[in-house]
Amino acid sequence: MVVIAICGTPGTGKSLLADAFKKLNFEVIHLSRFVIENKLYQSYDNKRDAYVIDEEKFLEAINRYIESRMGKNIVIEGIGAECLPPEIVDICIVLTCEPFVLKERLEQKGFPPEKIEENLEAERFGIIFGEAVANYGSSKTIVVDTTYKSIGEVFDVILNELRKRGVVK
Ligand SMILES: Nc1ncnc2c1ncn2[C@@H]1O[C@H](COP(=O)(O)OP(=O)(O)OP(=O)(O)O)[C@@H](O)[C@H]1O
Ligand SMILES: [Mg+2]
Repeated sequence: MVVIAICGTPGTGKSLLADAFKKLNFEVIHLSRFVIENKLYQSYDNKRDAYVIDEEKFLEAINRYIESRMGKNIVIEGIGAECLPPEIVDICIVLTCEPFVLKERLEQKGFPPEKIEENLEAERFGIIFGEAVANYGSSKTIVVDTTYKSIGEVFDVILNELRKRGVVK
């Protein structure tokens, strides 16, 4: 069993990459869906247009869920994948994207201008990367710049790296 966390600023391609792992028979957990379906939130923040997660409930539910999947390979993707309990994650993938390309992706996703600016700023400062390394350690963290790569190319780079490390066959 291997558990891979995929994190990154919105628009870096987490969801698309996670779906590519289905080809290798990985089960995919989309964190936002997991939180909503299992009602692991305290409230809804209208200003931020996001659920406020109930940390305690969330941790209990994700631990229990992963235990119940004994033997299955799992990818967990989404905002927050950078701060999962390190003991349940074998490898963390951080996707990055140069702000000038990320801006286009977020515009296409229909993000409002202030949310785009906030995310570009987070990407410039490497916020998610910093949190992932602090949480999982640099030896468990793989960073891939997606700016000039198709999702297929991103997947190939990661697969190579995972094979080198003996995480997948
Ligand atoms: N490597 C890539 N090359 C070209 N376009 C990409 C790439 N990765 C993602 N995209 C495009 O960027 C958009 C965002 O991708 P995706 O939804 O997978 O990102 P995400 O990281 O899951 O974002 P969110 O955190 O908002 O869910 C999509 O429209 C997708 O087509
Ligand atoms: Mg997504």
